[in-house]
Parts: sequence; structure tokens; C-alpha cells
Amino acid sequence: MSKNTIAISGASSGIGLSIAQLFARHHWSVFVAARQKTALDQMQLIWEKKFPESTLHCTVADLSTQEGCILFASNIKKHSPQLNILVNNVGQFSSGTLLGGATDQLEHFLRTNLLSAHFLTRALSPLLLKTPQSCLFTIGSIAAIAWPEEMATYALSKAALHAWHRGVRLELKKTEVNTCLIIPGGTYTSSWDGVDIDPDELLKPQEVAALVWKHKAGDKEEVTIVKET
Ligand SMILES: NC(=O)c1ccc[n+]([C@@H]2O[C@H](COP(=O)([O-])OP(=O)(O)OC[C@H]3O[C@@H](n4cnc5c(N)ncnc54)[C@H](OP(=O)(O)O)[C@@H]3O)[C@@H](O)[C@H]2O)c1
Repeated sequence: MSKNTIAISGASSGIGLSIAQLFARHHWSVFVAARQKTALDQMQLIWEKKFPESTLHCTVADLSTQEGCILFASNIKKHSPQLNILVNNVGQFSSGTLLGGATDQLEHFLRTNLLSAHFLTRALSPLLLKTPQSCLFTIGSIAAIAWPEEMATYALSKAALHAWHRGVRLELKKTEVNTCLIIPGGTYTSSWDGVDIDPDELLKPQEVAALVWKHKAGDKEEVTIVKET
């Protein structure tokens, strides 16, 4: 039988990288995509030493474009006859309000945080559908619910992503593809670079990754995780 396979969008750092490392530790084949080749090359070197039982396939692609999503999906389909898990993880964050933020901020967030999931899932759904008990994860955000005023544009893009995921869940209900929406609170990654915050007030990316591992059988439709105070 082929090896269990996971694909994670935007996984050269942060939550995506933690998910990749966790599944690699369990000898899964891991497919990742990000824009910067140097970070992916570095990841490949580490993999060979640290996770010799896991194959890492890297794709340099801008997933905010449909072409980038199709390129990533093509590389997965070329190398694997199955896809057990797809994690729509890629997302970018910066503060900004709907009326006062940069003019193109909403468009940028909708492309990166919403349409990436849409185009990638459409391209990979045939592979998920033919893999028994596969699971589609989407990494949302508590910002979509808490709606902090200073990050309203990001919150809107994540609220749209939550709605997209719930719609896809309904469409997949009669199939063998399970779905899980993970809704994390603030997590200590490079998204927080330049922000004056105590890392102890935030989740660790490994805590979010652990939820993907825990619910990989698709036993939960939605999971929220926030830092306990
Ligand atoms: N950190 C938090 O506090 C937090 C809280 C709740 C939810 N989330 C969500 O969790 C997810 C991961 O966040 P994170 O904080 O782990 O992010 P991160 O550390 O900033 O990592 C983002 C990853 O995505 C890649 N990436 C960014 N834009 C891309 C694009 N257009 N195409 C391809 N790859 C791209 C980056 O590599 P390149 O730059 O090389 O492309 C990097 O590998 C996001 O959806 C985020 O909204 C984060």
C-alpha cells in the first residue's frame, strides 16, 4: 500500500511547518508549497537528516493565484495516487480596518486567505474523493468570531473562509471525505513579527498541529483552540 500522504499549503514556517514536522515524525509523505525557494530548500535539507522515513515534496508557488494552486496540485498528483489529508493553511495577516486600511488589502486577503483554499481544494478534490476516509482541514481564525476592530479586514477574509469551509462540508456530506475547521486563537509565529507581545500569551504552533493529528480521522467538524489564561 502507498504511504499516507498529507498536503499543506504555506508550510515553510509557523503552523504549517509544525503540521508537516508532526506528520513526518510519523513517517507520512508530506507535500508543501510556499513562495520562497530558499526556505523550502532549507526544509528539504533538514528533512533528509531529521525525518529520513518521510518524503518531503516542495513546490515553489504563489498560492494567492489560481495558477499557483494548480501547479501545487499537479505536483501532488504526479507523485501520489492518493491524498489522505489536505490542510488549507496558507494565510497572511496584517492589521487594517475595512474603511481605513490599504485600498487593496481586502483583495489581497481574499486571494491569499480564501481563494487559495477554494482553488486548491477544487484541484485536489478528485484525489481526496478516491482516497478512503480522507480529510479536508481548513485553518480559520478566532478573529472571524471575535472581530477585533483593528484587524477587521483580516477578520472578514477569515469569516469568508469559515463560510466557504462550511459550504464545502455540506457538499462533501454524502462522500467519504471528512472535513474539519480548526479555529485557532493567537499563535506565536512570524505573523507576529514586530508586535510587542509576550509569547506566553499565545498558543504554540505545535498545539495547533496536534489538533490536526488528533482529528485526522475526521471525528470533529470544528475545533476552537485559544490560549488558556
Ligand atoms: N499566527 C496566528 O496568530 C494565527 C492565529 C489564527 C489563525 N492563523 C492562521 O494560521 C495559518 C498559518 O499562519 P502562520 O501564523 O503559521 O503563518 P506564517 O508563520 O506567516 O507562515 C505562512 C506560511 O505560508 C507561506 N505563504 C504565505 N503567503 C503565501 C502565498 N501567497 N503562497 C504560498 N505560500 C505562502 C509562507 O511562506 P512564503 O512567505 O515563502 O510564501 C509560510 O510558509 C494562516 O491561515 C493564519 O491566518 C494564524
